[in-house]
Amino acid sequence: MTNTKDPLLQPFRLKHLTLKNRIMSTAHEPAYSEGGMPTDRYRLYHVEKAKGGIALTMTAGSASVSRDSPPAFGNLLAWKDEIVPHLKRLADDCHGYGTAVMIQLTHLGRRTNWNKGDWLPVLAPSPIREPAHRHFPKEIEDWDIERIVADYASAAHRMQEAGLDGIEFEAYGHLMDSFWSPATNRREDDFGGSLENRMRFSNMVVDAVRKAVGPDFIVGIRMVADEDWDRGLSREEGVEIARRFAASGKIDFLNIIRGHIDHDAALNDVIPIQGMAASPHLDFAGEVRAATKFPVFHAARIADVATARHAITEGKLDMVGMTRAHIADPHIVRKIIAGREQQIRPCVGATYCLDRIYEGGEALCIHNAATGREGLIAHEIARAEKPRKAVVIGAGPAGLEAARVLAERGHSVELFEATGKAGGQVNLMIRNPRRKEMIGIVDWRLAELERLGVPIHYDTYAGPEDVLALSPDLVVVATGGFAQSPELESGEDLVVSSWDILAGAVKPEGPVLLFDDNGGHQGMSAAEVIANAGLDLEVVSPERFFAPEMGGMNHVPYATLFAERGVRVTINTRLKSVRREGNGLVATLGSDFSKGTMEERRVAQVVVEHGTAVNADLYFELKPHSRNVGSVDYPALVARRHPLPKRNPESGFDLIRIGDAIESRNIHASIYDALRYCSLL
Ligand SMILES: Cc1cc2nc3c(=O)[nH]c(=O)nc-3n(C[C@H](O)[C@H](O)[C@H](O)COP(=O)(O)O)c2cc1C
Ligand code: SF4
Repeated sequence: MTNTKDPLLQPFRLKHLTLKNRIMSTAHEPAYSEGGMPTDRYRLYHVEKAKGGIALTMTAGSASVSRDSPPAFGNLLAWKDEIVPHLKRLADDCHGYGTAVMIQLTHLGRRTNWNKGDWLPVLAPSPIREPAHRHFPKEIEDWDIERIVADYASAAHRMQEAGLDGIEFEAYGHLMDSFWSPATNRREDDFGGSLENRMRFSNMVVDAVRKAVGPDFIVGIRMVADEDWDRGLSREEGVEIARRFAASGKIDFLNIIRGHIDHDAALNDVIPIQGMAASPHLDFAGEVRAATKFPVFHAARIADVATARHAITEGKLDMVGMTRAHIADPHIVRKIIAGREQQIRPCVGATYCLDRIYEGGEALCIHNAATGREGLIAHEIARAEKPRKAVVIGAGPAGLEAARVLAERGHSVELFEATGKAGGQVNLMIRNPRRKEMIGIVDWRLAELERLGVPIHYDTYAGPEDVLALSPDLVVVATGGFAQSPELESGEDLVVSSWDILAGAVKPEGPVLLFDDNGGHQGMSAAEVIANAGLDLEVVSPERFFAPEMGGMNHVPYATLFAERGVRVTINTRLKSVRREGNGLVATLGSDFSKGTMEERRVAQVVVEHGTAVNADLYFELKPHSRNVGSVDYPALVARRHPLPKRNPESGFDLIRIGDAIESRNIHASIYDALRYCSLL
């Protein structure tokens, strides 16, 4: 039932614009652009949130106003006229659902790369390197300032032409605020020194933009109001900047940021990931609202509706950003309105989405595989024409998702799990307490399966006869895998797996050598558990750095812990063999780069992480009896047509194998398998 008094559902008046509720998605570049343009994939992604009832979607993230601000992570090119029709279509479509559309504009300054786009030099107020992008910026000159100010104005005008409801400037870690911050501005001219001088460039931009778009167009600023950094912009000066913008009459809202983003560890404090405190800057944003008495927006891990509601009820914010929360579930508002809050798919803070864009990929949610694929797969599962009888084996992420999707399709589904618990490898991940939120991936699906009336048979090992006895129309094998050891010259029987450590099956005993050539969370989580047990630990990786399958933001907590606990990380090194000597073990290490180089380590335990070997006996036993004989028509699957050929017409059932039962991958791949197949069957 709708709660019309819900503070989150009350409209907010911003100048002439009525935002229909208090929930927004803040700017975030999902890297879905094509040639810097927001084409269909981009548009459909935003339209989905509009369908889901969001009041305001801030498009782009760091759309570039100038040629010498080339995309750092797939950003839109707001300096090109050809962007206008794309944005117009996006805005028109979102407006059709009553959702306001704005865009974030920026000059990235030193937070991009000179070796991208047109190979123009990157620049900053002073030639101080940004650690994250590693470039030494040119000191900005007077003619640069002139042309960039003009670029901001023409980009803003383009956005107005596209029919957007407004713009916001990005002023944290980019060019605008790098003038404000003592950490990045050492100038002695009219653009350095006093706060007035340091604000000169941003004021010039605001004035030029206002001239270009007139007094009515909405212009806001997403600004750092405290860099929380001894060398950076202080809280006093930051709040003073906010006050000055509020008093200027030229800015319509403040979107508050606290912290600095010039390296990964600092970025994590601005955009906290799982295991970190929720809504850490909400009170600060509220203080800025109180100090300025001005519309304040803010986002930083306000992932659940209760916290969002608290932010509005307590007058801390005017608009609450629930950005990753919408990547996980674009229909949050619709579910609140319908009184189905408990059905919101939770954002578990895995930050797979953001880590992917920094690694050159596109933003994908670890457990919502429809996000960013709206043109291919609907978020709302359509009912099948003909209900079928489906049997799913394995209640890990793949099997749970398959059962959910098939039940939504209207099929009758039974789910079998050999152990006493659903969740598969997620149950291992959460043995690292810092990652306990991952259980949300399992719990949400279990709640959905209960709602959909899907029976789960725990502690039930389903063999081929058991499955065939059920006379199914469809069998989904999601039986996962087993931990496996890397190939060693000798001593494979002497090592234990990261699973053994995480599951608690083997007690860690120091000193430990942990060899990880899988490169993801599994090995590092085992390392975290071992280090937290206070044991002496060396992590060995054959790669150029440890855990390369993990992005920068997820790297931070491991790197922090390793530094704090004295964990040694040895790169470019491979475990060759293990032998027993006395009470302990001797690990022999070699190098892919130098054949003769060998070293030895005397340890009590050698832990290895080498992904999983498939557990697919059931699949191979059922395969000859199935209608498709296990085969898949990949072109049909990709083109979203029925993907299972009829090779054995006498058979009564189709057979699919998904997740780690095919090969060792990750949760997203498992859930995507389940969704992409089952939504077609
Ligand atoms: C994939 C991705 C890209 C982002 N890119 C930008 C960006 O370009 N500009 C920006 O101001 N914030 C960017 N952000 C940060 C978000 O706007 C937001 O501040 C952050 O996700 C914290 O809010 P949340 O906890 O509600 O997700 C990005 C976030 C994500 C997940
Ligand atoms: S990947 Fe993780 S952080 Fe990103 S939206 Fe999905 S659940 Fe949230």
